[in-house]
Amino acid sequence: MTAVTDEVGHYGVMIAEVVAGLAPVTGGRYLDATFGSGGHTRALLEATNPDGQVLGLDRDPDALVRGGFLSDRYGGRLHLYEHPFARLTLALDRHGWNEINGAVFDLGVSSQQLDSAHRGFSFRFDGPLDMRMDQGKETVATAADLVNQLGEWELARLFFELGEEPRAKKAARAIIAARSKERLTSTRQLAELLEGTLPPPRPGLHPATRVFQALRMMVNQELQQLEEGLRGALERLVEGGRIAVISFHSLEDRAVKRAFTARVMAPKVTGPMRLMRQLPETVPMYTLVTRKPLTPSPDEIRRNPRSRSAKLRIIQRGGRVPSRMA
Ligand SMILES: C[S@@+](CC[C@H](N)C(=O)[O-])C[C@H]1O[C@@H](n2cnc3c(N)ncnc32)[C@H](O)[C@@H]1O
Repeated sequence: MTAVTDEVGHYGVMIAEVVAGLAPVTGGRYLDATFGSGGHTRALLEATNPDGQVLGLDRDPDALVRGGFLSDRYGGRLHLYEHPFARLTLALDRHGWNEINGAVFDLGVSSQQLDSAHRGFSFRFDGPLDMRMDQGKETVATAADLVNQLGEWELARLFFELGEEPRAKKAARAIIAARSKERLTSTRQLAELLEGTLPPPRPGLHPATRVFQALRMMVNQELQQLEEGLRGALERLVEGGRIAVISFHSLEDRAVKRAFTARVMAPKVTGPMRLMRQLPETVPMYTLVTRKPLTPSPDEIRRNPRSRSAKLRIIQRGGRVPSRMA
């Protein structure tokens, strides 16, 4: 696979695998639930030349500004909406699409969001402890509100459940002690506090990694968004249509796996044998295209180290998958 970068240097993750997995058709209608810098959108538009269409959603207004040049390039084939994917069916309705041929979700934050100090997502830069993907359009509470207002037990539970931080109580205690002296308002303040409190999760990882992940997930209600977004996309798929989801940590991947496996159970038909023999063969409503998640190639990880934790799962509406990818 060749490197796919856009005009601002963003690397889309596992683009070739997503396109191969969705098997897009010309004239098809595709949803990019996480437009970002449009890496997957552009690949889908190219793969569905000349008349496939993509509806791109992002809750961050900056992403849509960046996407302007793609709208110009692809004319009426790309439709962008500033919209959270939990309510994707509303965007589809607004656009007049009852059904879609496929969808991609590339979860988490973009490189642009991570690298913008003023967005407060990264412990590598100093900025306000904000982390709201939608920049406050609907999300009210910032990461600073959480660290300054939640009680010790609530903070510990948050870091444990959404950050899988084994020393969650210790981190919570340190935050309560620090904030009794001054309000915690910046990423640097929190990162330095955690550096002095926690060991790195693994060699090479910053001690604040898991606490920052937990705060970001809580601020943006990421697991709820994922559950509702997948439900909406699965409902709107045409027969044979597929959904590809790229996740970046175990909580996300588990949620995707759970949502997919719950749908692939073949419907159970019970009743008297005499009647059951007359029923047509039962076909599951959905089928896994990937039994195990796909991961990026070593070459992609070398070019884009941020892709290293990516896991791609794909599901299809309908019972027969011509050939499984994993
Ligand atoms: C990893 S980036 C996507 C990158 C994109 N696939 C590309 O190739 O350029 C994730 C994007 O999804 C957006 N996002 C995350 N959660 C969202 C949600 N619940 N609703 C809408 N957009 C969301 C983020 O704002 C971010 O721009």
